[in-house]
Amino acid sequence: MDMGLKGKVAVVTGGSRGIGLYTARALGAEGARLALCARNADGLEAAAESLRAEGVADVLTVVCDIAREDGAARLIEATRNRYGRLDVLVNNVGGNRRGTFEETNDEDWLDIIQLNVLSGFRASRLAIPLMREAGGGSIIFISSVFGREKGGPGLSIYNTTKTALISAAGIMALELAKDGIRVNCVAPGSIQFPGGSWDRRVQANPEGMREFVKANLPLGRFGRADEVADVVTFLASERASLITGACLAVDGSQGRSLV
Ligand SMILES: NC(=O)c1ccc[n+]([C@@H]2O[C@H](COP(=O)([O-])OP(=O)(O)OC[C@H]3O[C@@H](n4cnc5c(N)ncnc54)[C@H](OP(=O)(O)O)[C@@H]3O)[C@@H](O)[C@H]2O)c1
Repeated sequence: MDMGLKGKVAVVTGGSRGIGLYTARALGAEGARLALCARNADGLEAAAESLRAEGVADVLTVVCDIAREDGAARLIEATRNRYGRLDVLVNNVGGNRRGTFEETNDEDWLDIIQLNVLSGFRASRLAIPLMREAGGGSIIFISSVFGREKGGPGLSIYNTTKTALISAAGIMALELAKDGIRVNCVAPGSIQFPGGSWDRRVQANPEGMREFVKANLPLGRFGRADEVADVVTFLASERASLITGACLAVDGSQGRSLV
């Protein structure tokens, strides 16, 4: 199946590991030209080198903190300077700060809103004119199974910010349909990869994690980053031309939401 991504320019925030790196790999394998960011320069360069070694010709790296106000501007500006166009934006960076609602303070909320929500909103605002110029585009937010339903005690900040992405993407999809720009979310379940948070938990508490898998993951295993990346790549592609304003669960039925 031709995905129609050859020569297209794709920005992936947080492209040095996990879902971001696998998404970059999948988009690159379809012939997309890439722009990736992360804070750690060595990790980002190592990821870019591994992609180049796999045959991805164009990989631009931009070291920046996307949670800062100037982060998205630096990334999108560098992409425009290098490639002169932008077709796909994957807002992948995100994080968590655990604590009961009562324990959280304004600083916790503002930090994670900057990281999970505003980083992608700023990048999207800057990407939209470039996508319009290119005749259309695809914006994808990486939400979570816990953006679609209650994640449980201690997750109010994560849950709220991941839900906000789904809500905003739905409205953006309505507003940008006339420009041929599709806006969607992907909601991964628990995804294990080396160096990721679930992998650390498995190393620290293998028995506890076996119980977690048994109780929560119907397929009897964690998800893999490439399984999420394939869905993101599909949404980025022309093959998903009728999908906008959607949130696709990639969670092996970990989530119990009916919508
Ligand atoms: N893994 C899961 O089970 C899971 C489940 C549901 C949803 N998600 C969501 O999927 C997304 C990716 O998570 P992940 O677990 O694959 O990866 P991750 O371990 O959180 O790494 C994310 C990537 O983002 C970069 N990054 C983090 N903070 C950044 C910042 N402020 N500015 C620029 N780059 C930054 C990291 O590089 P540096 O550290 O060098 O900056 C890394 O390349 C997140 O939004 C997460 O909430 C993950």
